[in-house]
Amino acid sequence: MMMENENSRNTITAVPVTESTTDIADLRREYTRSGLRRHDLTENPLDLFERWLKQACEARLADPTAMCVATVDEQGQPYQRIVLLKHYDEKGMVFYTNMGSRKAQQLMNNAHISLLFPWHMLDRQVIVLGRAEKLPALDVLKYFHSRPKDSQIGAWVSKQSSRISTRGILESKFLELKQKFQNGEVPLPSFWGGFRVSIDSMEFWQGGVHRLHDRFFYQRQENGWQVDRLAP
Ligand SMILES: Cc1cc2nc3c(=O)[nH]c(=O)nc-3n(C[C@H](O)[C@H](O)[C@H](O)COP(=O)(O)O)c2cc1C
Repeated sequence: MMMENENSRNTITAVPVTESTTDIADLRREYTRSGLRRHDLTENPLDLFERWLKQACEARLADPTAMCVATVDEQGQPYQRIVLLKHYDEKGMVFYTNMGSRKAQQLMNNAHISLLFPWHMLDRQVIVLGRAEKLPALDVLKYFHSRPKDSQIGAWVSKQSSRISTRGILESKFLELKQKFQNGEVPLPSFWGGFRVSIDSMEFWQGGVHRLHDRFFYQRQENGWQVDRLAP
């Protein structure tokens, strides 16, 4: 008989925060959930991802679609920042951003990228490795107009990642543009866009007791996926 665990159950709850201590070296907790076993795995990692994302939403994690996006500059210096996942399917994972931003510039130069979903309140993380490609203008346009109007205006205001002297510059520009676009549609800025990240590999990490965590690494093959268990 297959045991029910958190990977098969629909809803799981977030773990309460560790007790307070003055020494961060003492901050640790046991991962007491029931683990991730071979029989929990799906043939296609996107199906397992979908299950975990659903559980992250149901557990009411703040920003369940937030992912840490890592890129590298021309010197090989890695950079990371949080970005929201907006869509995913067989073709990849999609996020939107300013195409003049540091991350976008780095990606145009080096498409290698890593995404990390920090679902540690559920004793989990998922890591994706792949390559980023610019989204077609039509996809960007469709998403841009689905955003709240103020966010659309906000996109016009911010020359993301550039140096600015005061917050006031942003606020007065926002008010000016809010006035300008009050009666009409906000056009898509030419510098705004998005990326689709191919899923070349996907790793699932589930915390286990005594630091014996479960890790499964899916690597894309020509026809399907190879899955290996990794040592924690
Ligand atoms: C919860 C959260 C969600 C965010 N979502 C996005 C996003 O979807 N797109 C984006 O460009 N920046 C987003 N940001 C801001 C980025 O973390 C980052 O500051 C910005 O994109 C500039 O990064 P860069 O200078 O490395 O290009 C988000 C930040 C947080 C904390």
